[in-house]
Amino acid sequence: MNIQALINDKVSQALEAAGAPAGSPAAVRQSAKAQFGDYQANGVMGVAKKLGTNPREFAQKVIDQLDLGDIAEKVEIAGPGFINIFLNKTWLAKQAEEALTDARLGVATQEKQNIVVDYSAPNVAKEMHVGHLRSTIIGDAVVRTLEFLGHNVIRANHIGDWGTQFGMLIANLERVQQESGEISMELADLEAFYRESKKLYDEDEAFAERARNYVVKLQSGDQYCADMWKKLVDVTMEQNQHNYDRLNVSLTRDNVMGESMYNDMLAGIVADLKAKGLAVEDDGAQVVFLDEFKNKDGEPMGVIIQKRDGGFLYTTTDIACAKYRYEHFNANRVLYFIDSRQHQHLMQAWTIVRKAGYIPDDVSLEHHAFGMMLGKDGRPFKTRSGGTVRLADLLDEAESRAKVLIEEKNPELDTAEKTKIASTVAMAAVKYADLSKHRTTDYVFDWDNMLAFEGNTAPYMQYAYTRVSSVFKRAGLSESELTHPVVITDEKEQVLLSKLLQFEEAVETVAREGHPHVMCSYLFELAGNFSSFYEACPILNADEPVKQSRLKLALLTAKTIKQGLDLLGIETLERM
Ligand code: ARG
Repeated sequence: MNIQALINDKVSQALEAAGAPAGSPAAVRQSAKAQFGDYQANGVMGVAKKLGTNPREFAQKVIDQLDLGDIAEKVEIAGPGFINIFLNKTWLAKQAEEALTDARLGVATQEKQNIVVDYSAPNVAKEMHVGHLRSTIIGDAVVRTLEFLGHNVIRANHIGDWGTQFGMLIANLERVQQESGEISMELADLEAFYRESKKLYDEDEAFAERARNYVVKLQSGDQYCADMWKKLVDVTMEQNQHNYDRLNVSLTRDNVMGESMYNDMLAGIVADLKAKGLAVEDDGAQVVFLDEFKNKDGEPMGVIIQKRDGGFLYTTTDIACAKYRYEHFNANRVLYFIDSRQHQHLMQAWTIVRKAGYIPDDVSLEHHAFGMMLGKDGRPFKTRSGGTVRLADLLDEAESRAKVLIEEKNPELDTAEKTKIASTVAMAAVKYADLSKHRTTDYVFDWDNMLAFEGNTAPYMQYAYTRVSSVFKRAGLSESELTHPVVITDEKEQVLLSKLLQFEEAVETVAREGHPHVMCSYLFELAGNFSSFYEACPILNADEPVKQSRLKLALLTAKTIKQGLDLLGIETLERM
């Protein structure tokens, strides 16, 4: 149950009954401090101001109308007119019991929507770079969260698998095959293969001629070129799949819906935009002028959708792609996890999509942008020599660093277990470091921070999980043997319980806003609340029925942390 939403509804009703205009926001939020109760309604002051009445007096009127049933124990006015709501202990305890016996921890499913999520989107014959890493990790966490809430999620890996560069790539692949017959070695380093192709194209006129010829053939559906193209896609996606698997990212080959998929739609789109009077010819190219965007002279910006030579552009593809996602998947929402530098590109494509009427207004197209990954020096993340960091190398380094740490912490474990723990911690650390930051800002990639066992990090959260679940294990009781009900005897218990029941609020926020850091902060606070509870309230030495009640709180905490980390794509360990 989403308690915040429930209370918000009730306060909204009370506001209206007290004379507020319909739809006045109740603005119910989780309280920042236990002394302000569990929730706070902040909307009263704004309404009172509008009505020209005294806010504290108006707050009293709202409280007189407020019917929270058995949910609240105390409701009081604070400061200039806040309403503080303290949840009822018996009610809280009852909710905890329900969450414990439910595989979904009491989280309701939402009305099912078709949601397309565009994420990862690396380019063929190129290494995945750090920008793709961010998109992959953040997108996958949101995908998992949406699925947990019961939505039909379509993972769309919009890989860069089309364009004139394929001419030179095919020509080079052909050369390699003829010279060595063996392509796997040559393609192991795709970045080098790409650079080599480019060099040949620039320096060898015969090669360049062949390459241009292959572009034309590929576009006209020639079988030989199509086969060569497919080899390049296969090799690239095999390498990427290896990274996805290591990172516990749920993408598979079936989720690939690359740019090439929309190729056949493009001519029709341009013709349609011309027929609708949106596209006009300008210096031989087809251009859509948009009043919504101004160029540096203050004139409507021209977005090219077809070049003079007949070629289409990245924007044309994204117009077709959005249309397809609505028509083919009957999408209610389409979420794009792409670098913030592509914001204008997307806005232009979608403005055209809306003007052309390809997608109804109630279908949302959402750019969930993120900033850059920076090195410790505050500059874009690069290797020491200034090159792009290969994702596989980055993950290898994470593993070797985690190994050293685990060796220090747990020298007594056997090698196999140490290796398993190190790789789980390493992948979690890389992911969590990214997920826990507000995604719109740039973030600094720092090994020491992400692998620390203190603070809002993966090792801390994973360790918190093993610690909480070991408390329960040490009691030697199975879940079904916990027959005494939850009772609240201490304020720390109440604070922990109230936080536990806010899990659903965190899940829904991530699903709505696409901000996984909300889940990270929630779990970090939860772990903190558990520590305070654990310090203040003995568990194993407590007398019954308090002992069982506290064990239940520990159990629910462990389950919630595990579920929350799982939604982030982070694995837990029973021992570390
Ligand atoms: N392949 C692109 C890049 O590497 C990202 C594609 C994002 N998705 C999209 N629909 N444009 O920058």
